[in-house]
Amino acid sequence: MKYDVRQLPLLSNAEIAAGIFDMRLRWQQDDLSVACGQFAHVYVPGKALRRPISVCDVSDGVLRLVYQVKGEGTKIMSQMQPGGTVDVLAPLGNGFAVEKGKRYCLIGGGIGVPPMLYTARQCDDPLIITGFRHESLVILQDDLKALGETLLCTDDGSAGVGGFVTDLLRERIGEVDEVCACGPVPMLKAVAAVCREFGKPCQISLEERMGCGIGACLVCAVRVRQNGEEVMQHVCKDGPVFHAEEVVF
Ligand SMILES: Cc1cc2nc3c(=O)[nH]c(=O)nc-3n(C[C@H](O)[C@H](O)[C@H](O)COP(=O)(O)OP(=O)(O)OC[C@H]3O[C@@H](n4cnc5c(N)ncnc54)[C@H](O)[C@@H]3O)c2cc1C
Ligand code: FES
Repeated sequence: MKYDVRQLPLLSNAEIAAGIFDMRLRWQQDDLSVACGQFAHVYVPGKALRRPISVCDVSDGVLRLVYQVKGEGTKIMSQMQPGGTVDVLAPLGNGFAVEKGKRYCLIGGGIGVPPMLYTARQCDDPLIITGFRHESLVILQDDLKALGETLLCTDDGSAGVGGFVTDLLRERIGEVDEVCACGPVPMLKAVAAVCREFGKPCQISLEERMGCGIGACLVCAVRVRQNGEEVMQHVCKDGPVFHAEEVVF
């Protein structure tokens, strides 16, 4: 895995839904290739720790990071102005393993949707299911529609169909070979359970608080099951994507 720290020119940083921003940075792919599901560790002036944000897309020399303002760090990010540069350590982690010739169902919940865009770009004709709490939080639908068939749901039915991503997954799981998902833990747990029931492989992207982002500080440890034993692994280095059956929820 190859990564580097770079000062990336900030092209735009627009609010695309309530409290959700789309940061576009000039990115020279050269020898650093980005895999889907990897993340960027963003330096925020005045903060000791970088903020991990998934790669939403890489296309035509532009790296997109779509993030929700949660606390001070992401608030400062939302105030960064085009014309300056952003200090980014990337690309980090192990992303989704996608193979040509397989049909994938890509599932994103809330702010877990952004990494599914670049993942969709690597897949042949994916089925993309996204779920949000409310229509005010719906993002990236036009981008995703350009890359596959999309299904949208909201908890309250204010956009798309009312219900959860797992309701839609149950209806369509027979059409796909494998499922990849990113979103809140209860959603990932429910997606993993449906995949287990139907005997489909499933990869999930986990979130954990991070320090270094490169496997040196142990902040992001999670418990996984391998060869019948529970072991600790790093979300930043071994993940963030894991096989669902390995994860001890
Ligand atoms: C691999 C990975 C990918 C992510 N991708 C995205 C994304 O694409 N879009 C997006 O909006 N958010 C994403 N997140 C969550 C994002 O990193 C946090 O929302 C953000 O760090 C919060 O920082 P803050 O300073 O605003 O909040 P604060 O709560 O003030 O942060 C305090 C500290 O906790 C850490 N922290 C807080 N929440 C999280 C969290 N959920 N995960 C990891 N560290 C956290 C911060 O990095 C910081 O060090 C991702 C997290 C991980 C681990
Ligand atoms: S964040 Fe330091 S080991 Fe993962």
